Amino acid sequence: MSTTIIETDPDAALLPERIRRFPFPFATDTYRYSANVEPATKTAPTEAGSWGAHLVDIDEHYLDELAERAKVLNRDPSRVNVLPHMRPAVWDALTTLLSSMADDYPDTMFFHREGNVCQWKNGLQNLEVEFTVGDDSSLPEGPLRFLGSQIQDDIILLDVREDTLWLDAGLVTFAADWSFGFDVGMNFLEIHHPVPRVKEERIISRAEQFLLRLQPGEQFRRTNWTMTIGRRMDTSTETYPEWGRDRSTIAEDPAMPEKLHLRVEVQHLIRLPHSGALLFLVRTHLLPLADIARVPAWREKMGNVLAELPDDMAEYKGIIRYRKAASDWLLAR
Ligand code: HEM
Repeated sequence: MSTTIIETDPDAALLPERIRRFPFPFATDTYRYSANVEPATKTAPTEAGSWGAHLVDIDEHYLDELAERAKVLNRDPSRVNVLPHMRPAVWDALTTLLSSMADDYPDTMFFHREGNVCQWKNGLQNLEVEFTVGDDSSLPEGPLRFLGSQIQDDIILLDVREDTLWLDAGLVTFAADWSFGFDVGMNFLEIHHPVPRVKEERIISRAEQFLLRLQPGEQFRRTNWTMTIGRRMDTSTETYPEWGRDRSTIAEDPAMPEKLHLRVEVQHLIRLPHSGALLFLVRTHLLPLADIARVPAWREKMGNVLAELPDDMAEYKGIIRYRKAASDWLLAR
């Protein structure tokens, strides 16, 4: 974990909210993989503002992203899957997160549980429902699809057995260049097999040991980043033919600063209190380079990170063909 002190720019109050609350991930001018976990729900200051006070973050894109998710799910049912032994974990995730949202957003959300009967109100969707924990038919599309209609995060549930984590359930519509359908049933090491460097550096095996030791109810978080062309949330392997070719044309595109986005995932790691499963939430934030450049410290750090990033990491992230153009643009401002 970094101990770098971040000072908020005195002009930051004038910036729009999308910039002030963006989880800018770079503390210094270089970036390497690390476990980088820290306790959840701690406000993290940045040079433009802060982020991270709430477990479930709701922003201006809430309704649009949920509509986008519904479209993806209707087109491709492989984005959601629950292996039968994970049903209790799904209910555990649902009740844990709805209750947390009601605490964090009391003006718009309400959750009450009496025995197994729960009441949920979401003013942002004009929604009031009652359901029974453990009875999948008490929610029209089942508990996981329902949870996916209330939060912007992608949802993954890992079973803990044989001292190993297994990806045995989830709803993932906004994957950054991977396939949920392909990974279902795999264990933590198998899932991370394509990532360069992490095996030699033992990052993944150490991270797994850390996650296996989490106590019920404990919540941590980390960030990860890549880049995306356009405000495209669904950059899964499944839709690669729709977005892959943009990577080879963006460097010459005069609209690059508006089209090219820093894509930051705020990932939460939660040991669920009743089932003991590990809940992994991935919340995706996109900000165009043009906005990054409005914060002088961000412009400089991101420009330097992109210039210095080793080729194998840039290749894996899919940014190798345009990272120099992006870095040159940022550093020339
Ligand atoms: C402390 C915990 C974790 C660490 C340190 C970690 C580390 C990493 C790193 C370094 C990458 C490469 C990212 C990039 O270059 O953009 C990655 C990718 C990935 N991680 Fe994790 N991760 C963690 C937890 C998890 C969990 C709980 C899951 C749930 C299944 C997960 C699923 C993935 C997937 C699916 C990818 C993409 C792999 C691919 O290209 O197919 N990670 N992770």
